[in-house]
Amino acid sequence: MNRRHFIVRGSATFAALLALGDSAFPQAKPEGTSADRLSHLPLLFGTDYYPDQTPENLWEQDAAAMAAAGITNVRIAEFAWGLMEPREGSFDFKWLERAVGILHAHQIAVILGTPSAAPPPWLTQKYPEVLMVNEHGVTLSPGTRRFTCPTNATYRSLSLAVATQMAHAFATTPGVIGWQIDNEFTLGESARCYCRFCREGFQRWLRGKYPSLDAINQAWGTVFWSNTYSDFSQIPVPLPSGAPPNPGLALDYDRYQSAANVSFLDEQLTMLRRLCPAHFITTNNVGLVDTIDMRDLYRNLDFVASDNYPGFFAIFLNGQDSGVSAPPEVIASMVALSHDFMRSVKDGEPFLIMEEQSGKAGQPTFAPQPEPGQLRLWSYQAVAHGAIGINYFRWDTANFGAEEYWHGLLRHDRSHSPGFDEIQQTIRELKSLGRDALNARYEADLALCFDPNSSWALTIQPGQPKLKYFSEIASWYGCIAASHAGIDIVNATQDLSRYKVLCAPTMYVVSQQQADRIRAYVQGGGTFIAGFRLGVKDEHSRIVNTPLPGLLRDVMGVELLDYQPIYSEKQGVHFAGPLVGADAECHIWADILDPKSKDAEVLASYTDGAYASKPAITSHKYGKGRAIYVGAHLEGLDLARVLLTLIASSGVTRAIQAPTGVEVTSRRTDRQTWTYLLNHTAKAQSVKVEGTYRDGLDHSTVSGSISLEPYGVRILLGS
Ligand code: GAL
Ligand code: ZN
Repeated sequence: MNRRHFIVRGSATFAALLALGDSAFPQAKPEGTSADRLSHLPLLFGTDYYPDQTPENLWEQDAAAMAAAGITNVRIAEFAWGLMEPREGSFDFKWLERAVGILHAHQIAVILGTPSAAPPPWLTQKYPEVLMVNEHGVTLSPGTRRFTCPTNATYRSLSLAVATQMAHAFATTPGVIGWQIDNEFTLGESARCYCRFCREGFQRWLRGKYPSLDAINQAWGTVFWSNTYSDFSQIPVPLPSGAPPNPGLALDYDRYQSAANVSFLDEQLTMLRRLCPAHFITTNNVGLVDTIDMRDLYRNLDFVASDNYPGFFAIFLNGQDSGVSAPPEVIASMVALSHDFMRSVKDGEPFLIMEEQSGKAGQPTFAPQPEPGQLRLWSYQAVAHGAIGINYFRWDTANFGAEEYWHGLLRHDRSHSPGFDEIQQTIRELKSLGRDALNARYEADLALCFDPNSSWALTIQPGQPKLKYFSEIASWYGCIAASHAGIDIVNATQDLSRYKVLCAPTMYVVSQQQADRIRAYVQGGGTFIAGFRLGVKDEHSRIVNTPLPGLLRDVMGVELLDYQPIYSEKQGVHFAGPLVGADAECHIWADILDPKSKDAEVLASYTDGAYASKPAITSHKYGKGRAIYVGAHLEGLDLARVLLTLIASSGVTRAIQAPTGVEVTSRRTDRQTWTYLLNHTAKAQSVKVEGTYRDGLDHSTVSGSISLEPYGVRILLGS
């Protein structure tokens, strides 16, 4: 039974809709760019505000204080389901209307959040089946947020009902400009649901995806361990069993969960488009969390909205308990990657920061107050990577609840926080930069391949427990960012010809479409730098039945002699030719290469064990370009030296030389370029530039050596 048959045969139930994935909720793709869709609005420099948590007698003074601080908008109500629907089917928006009215009277525009991330207790008491079951089979308890199943029809219809009532109430309310659907779909403690509704949803989704049950058995290789399914209803979800799950099933399950969340969002989106045609619609997520395919999630939304907490990265990078802080430049690199990741979700269109750290940040434990200058620096960093506006999280600091220690612009006693003045100054400055600066396109000569399929498949089977897709992406990103050439994150299913270099660490799953794009890219003159574990699997998570790297053998000009996880044994790498330099250590993984093409050159070899002297890095001339295979897992400075040497020999020139810890990015329109110099270090720095620029803030003429204060920012205007 194919997709079409299923529609014809099935009833138009939610079940049938979900099986259809994207096509189930046909959305008109928004026309024009995100900048076009925001062009009639004020510049968005706002704050996340909680009138639902604030005594009403303070709303007026809050709105006046916001306006005085230069704030142009708020995002509100995204967790206020309990106040909007205190009993099932009984809605109360009067309080919210009063809050919007007061804000509007102070010229503060409103983005409304639909509240589906926080269902109230009456709902979970009456419908306990809406609760998520986590990967251990444990049903989550209510009482926090993000504890629900994305498939469950009751939860979906109740979520849609409250959002629909909201839309009716606010479709034409003066001051309301747009919507945030739900809140951070990706950030629950448990990323995916494994309940019985999801199991049925998965089975329906599989019916839509595969032509037959036989095709599924074939794709997953269910003959292994006698798992051949004779009925769709037998197909399980990957809950704990006697052994690891079938990797093909597990990968499809990750895809199903992503699709279920996307279709959950699409239900609200369809309704909002119909009832509120004048409003923009988005949703917010933190970058770098990939349990949902972000490109699918944002496909029909007006623009990407991102939440940015550099202090949270600091805690996360060190483990909650280590008590050690990562150096600011490492945190800055993670934040930069997160911005590039979110901008790239809509292929480079400017994105909105829906939540930006404005003080100490965390829940039971929290990151310290940013150093003077850092809040401003982080705001500029967002803009330097493509932000169109910023909302600071949050206006006040709650005196109650799980986020009492997530500090806002006001302290617990409602006096100004230590960062208040700096944020006010930053808003003033960013407004003075003007709309063109915020709409301009980010410039990137480099592309880094990120594909959720590889991420999910490698998480299912890392091979070596320390091998993590995200760590590889982050460490390659950190290395190549030092070229200051700008980086887009791509999934290699699009035309790649605009990039000088394409990097692809651990591209474990390679589809035919991706292989064709990469082949065309290298043929046309591009430099492709791949990491180990390239092209191991096909889209069904089956290992290819050709020598590795599978579909890209011809492009790479090499085959794998072998692949090795590395535990305690020593393995070294000796460099040659253009990479000549000190030997490096290879940890975690080694792909041992065997050149097959006369145009392949060996750039490094292994030094130890059975594979001593066998190639570790090769470069292959292919068409007008080059394909380089970095078979060894290299770390830190070794990886940086290799990647930067290869990039430098690929026609990428550094317009500006900057010291470590200073970021350089550019955004451009037809008429002007804004180059941002961002000093992420605690010491003064200087940067040498060629030519003459205008200072973006004081408009003076600048050239030669440009000084940056600790955590300082300079903007250079050029043509
Ligand atoms: C975000 C979330 C907000 C708030 C904030 C601080 O991730 O969207 O609701 O929780 O973090 O924790
Ligand atoms: Zn579920």
